[in-house]
Parts: sequence; structure tokens; C-alpha cells
Amino acid sequence: MTKAPNPGTLTADPIAGLEGVVAAHTSLSDVDGQNGRLILRGKQIEDLAGRVWFEEAVLHLWHSYVFSDIDELKHAFGSVRQAAFSVVSVMEAASEGLGVYERMQLGLAAMSIPKDRPQAVTISGALPVFLAAAYRISEGKSPIAPDPQLSVAEDLLRMLKGEEPDADHVAALDRYLVTILDHGLNASTFTARVIGSTEAEMKQAVLGAMGALSGPLHGGAPGPVLDMIDAIGRPENADKWISDALLRKERLMGFGHRIYRTRDPRADVLKAGLKKLGTNNPKVQLAEEIEAAALAALRKAKPDRALDTNVEFYTAVLLDAIGIDRTLFTPLFATGRNPGWCAHVMEQQANGKLIRPASVYVGPQAEK
Ligand code: CMC
Repeated sequence: MTKAPNPGTLTADPIAGLEGVVAAHTSLSDVDGQNGRLILRGKQIEDLAGRVWFEEAVLHLWHSYVFSDIDELKHAFGSVRQAAFSVVSVMEAASEGLGVYERMQLGLAAMSIPKDRPQAVTISGALPVFLAAAYRISEGKSPIAPDPQLSVAEDLLRMLKGEEPDADHVAALDRYLVTILDHGLNASTFTARVIGSTEAEMKQAVLGAMGALSGPLHGGAPGPVLDMIDAIGRPENADKWISDALLRKERLMGFGHRIYRTRDPRADVLKAGLKKLGTNNPKVQLAEEIEAAALAALRKAKPDRALDTNVEFYTAVLLDAIGIDRTLFTPLFATGRNPGWCAHVMEQQANGKLIRPASVYVGPQAEK
């Protein structure tokens, strides 16, 4: 009988992680890992984030699939938020003991998706409501009803905090949501495309993508980034804390990327947002010093691998600076990325076919 190979040899398998494998043609986003550039349908991320509102960026991405009029989209998002709020009591009743993210998934699963509106609009419009309500319920507070007249970012902050939000905080959150809107064939987007390729409902693709996003190697990193900054506490502790972590073979959260071999351009877009909030936040200064110490340590520890700051590092610092609880970082990532997932599902269903790759069998052979 042929023996199964040592599983150790499989971890070094070049197929693992599908690194460099092309799995789709897309007109949605181009992640240029060598030059550190991100293009969303022909526009650089720096020309979108902080310059256009989230709704406009979504419309730009959804071009040719959903509406062409910004007022129509804003109006639809407002109506959907109101419809989603009527599902919150169902979510609340069934979500005892769950975290915010699972509550959001529950809210989305419980919402019926009407046929008379593009599914992407309903799902993307509803998630901010489920996020805010899930958070408030988990804090023992009453959910706040949406205001359909407000922008997504303003209403989301208002529903979270229960008060009229600071305009600078709204702008910072909006910048964040635009920054993370789409990013090539990352793990969650690939998941969405695979599910969409079976002609499943878009809601199922989004629920699956949310699952993929939740892991710490993808969208779960910013909470641990903030934990790291808090654990280091003072700039003079950074070098030792970081070298101890690397000696323990731990990964520094907020650093490294599968595609970027240089700095993730989104890190600087978010850092620019922090600067707009003012420079007198001691945590921001601490974060900058930790970033410098981490980059120096990574260069030394992994000289053959270009490891630089990724989007999650300044996500954590920016969201913390506007008073967002760290338990909300991944839920917010899902909310901002969701229109991107939906766009990929629409593109997949318009142009693609069932995604069904092959595998190479390396198990034991059957006895005759
Ligand atoms: N800290 C320390 N070492 C690292 C890090 C890190 N952040 N990232 C990669 N390495 C090392 C890794 O240990 C490996 O070393 P060795 O060859 O000695 O085993 C080498 O670099 C190559 O790592 P890899 O696992 O082949 O790289 P990958 O392309 O699979 O990983 C990554 C990409 C993002 C999963 C990884 O860099 C990582 O775990 N970073 C920390 C988590 C994080 O910040 N995640 C957010 C990613 S950005 C948002 C998104 O797109 O979702």
C-alpha cells in the first residue's frame, strides 16, 4: 500500500494559500502589491477616501449593476435602514449570549430580501442598523431607530452612541468605510464569489464572507492591534515587547500582507484621517512609535520577507480615536467591505461560471 505523505511536507506545498493563483477577471479593484497602489474602478483610493462620501464610492463601485443616481441610492439606503430596524426585535429575542458580529449575522439571516430592490442595496443598507443595534443590545442599552435622512456614516455613529455625532468623527468613519470598500480577491471576497458562483442568494454569499472575514489573519486583526498598543503602554517598552513576541514566533498584528511587498496604501489614507482629527492624542503618538519599532524589528527578524504596515494597524488607531469600541472593529470592517462583496457577487454572476477547482489527492491509495 502507498503510504500517505508526511503532513509536514504539505505545509510547504506551493499550492497552499493559492498564492499567485489567478481566480477571476475583475473590473472592480486592482491591488498593485509591488507599487503599493489600490485602484477602485479606475480611481486611486487616495482620490476616493476622504474626498467622496461612502454612498458615492459605493455607487462608483456598483456602476453598471445598481442605479446610476446618487440620490436614488441614498434614498434607498435610508428606506432599507428603516425596514431593517423592524427586524431588530427578532434579532434581540434570539441572540442571548452572542457577540456583536454573530448578532449582525443573525439580523441579516432573519431579514427577508424583497425582490423589488437590488439585493446589494438591501443588504448593504441593513448592516449598519444590525451593527449598531447588536452593539447596544450587548451593552444592555435600547437600540436607536435610524434616521433615513442622514448619511450612512452619520446615522451609524448616531445609532451607536445615542447622540448627535461629532462632524469630524463622521468624516473619519466615512473615510474608513471608503478605504476598505474593496480589495481584490481577499479571502472573504473570494468566499463571496465562490458562494455567488453557485447562484445562491446574495445574502448567503455575504453571510459566508462574514465568516471568512472574522479570522485574525484577515479582518480580525485590528482588535489585537489595539491590545498590543495597550500592552506596550509606553514607547520605551516597544522594542522589548516586540522582540519577545517575535521570539515566541508570534505575528505582529497590523503588519505583513499577502499581496503588498511595500506599505499598504490604505495605512496612509487612514493615518491622514487621524491627522485631520488633531495631533494631541497620546495614543496616536504611541502608535507611531510602536509602528517604527515593529518595522525595524521585522526587517531584522525577516530580512527576506518585505513586511510592512497593513490597513489594520491604523484602522485600530483611527477607530479608537473616534471612540469606537474594539469589539466593533471587525463588524465595522464587514459593514464597509459588504458593498465590495456584493459587487463581486454581481460580477461573478454576470460573467463567471461555477467555481470548482481541482485538488491533488495525496492520501493513501485504495487497496485493490
Ligand atoms: N509578524 C511576524 N511575522 C510575520 C508577519 C507578522 N505580522 N507576517 C508574516 N510574517 C512572517 C511569517 O511568520 C513567515 O515567516 P517564516 O517564513 O519564517 O515562517 C513569513 O513572514 C511569511 O508569512 P506568510 O504566512 O507566508 O505570509 P502570508 O502572505 O500568508 O500572510 C498575513 C499574510 C496577513 C496573513 C500575515 O502577514 C499576518 O499574519 N499578519 C498579521 C495579521 C494581520 O495583520 N492581518 C491583517 C491582514 S491585512 C487585511 C486583510 O487583507 O484582511
